[in-house]
Amino acid sequence: MKTAAGKTALITGGSRGLGRALARELAGAGWTLVIDGRDAAALDAAARAIGGDVTAIPGDVADAAHRADLARAVSGGLDLLVNNASTLGTTPLPRLAEQPVADLAATYATNVLAPLALIQAVLPALRERHGAILNISSDAAVENYETWGGYGSSKAALEQLSNVLAAEEPDVRVWWADPGEMRTDMLRAAGEDADAAPPPEEAAAAFHRGLIDGRPASGRYRAADLAAAR
Ligand SMILES: NC(=O)c1ccc[n+]([C@@H]2O[C@H](COP(=O)([O-])OP(=O)(O)OC[C@H]3O[C@@H](n4cnc5c(N)ncnc54)[C@H](OP(=O)(O)O)[C@@H]3O)[C@@H](O)[C@H]2O)c1
Repeated sequence: MKTAAGKTALITGGSRGLGRALARELAGAGWTLVIDGRDAAALDAAARAIGGDVTAIPGDVADAAHRADLARAVSGGLDLLVNNASTLGTTPLPRLAEQPVADLAATYATNVLAPLALIQAVLPALRERHGAILNISSDAAVENYETWGGYGSSKAALEQLSNVLAAEEPDVRVWWADPGEMRTDMLRAAGEDADAAPPPEEAAAAFHRGLIDGRPASGRYRAADLAAAR
């Protein structure tokens, strides 16, 4: 396996699901990692299970002081930022006619504003190393699934921020990527049949090989396409 000695990644939401699976992939390839999550005990357990050089910093990405802690932890150099932590917002997922607007503001704070603020905090470090940003999106950003309008519109905003950032930052790769349905707590909380979905390790492997190692041009990618292109 190709190793990445000396490379550092910051992955938000590393305590379970896709974030933990991607952290495990990169740790196995020799990356130094910084991960976060709000549940400190779950995050610590994940860091121990991931192994390798992993720093776990508990906190909420929507909290500016926590984001400053994350930025400080990677001040020695950064090659990859993965904005993975995300919320569904109101559950059960409501139709837009019933969407509490205050809930939506909180969803945008976590899914759109926090990723942008983290990008702003670490961009100088990423430019220096010609690094990369991977913003985790969803098919709900581009499809008109009923009841997915709140969460989906937050991911659409994240995608368009990524699109413009890619044009503005030629020295940094910017990928916004749909992992597809995954067997995780989030899909379960959405009321979907999560057990029928593939494990997050499949999307993590596709992102590792197809994006992080392959370094294609900035743009929108789907894990399923990356896996099929092997
Ligand atoms: N699952 C799917 O089928 C699916 C499909 C399309 C896209 N996605 C996207 O894929 C990404 C990963 O989803 P997943 O299914 O792996 O989710 P998950 O299993 O719910 O895991 C989410 C991770 O993010 C952390 N997290 C959540 N809110 C956070 C916050 N405010 N601050 C810091 N950490 C936070 C969680 O830990 P704590 O709760 O302890 O904070 C956990 O580590 C998300 O961006 C999601 O929108 C998922």
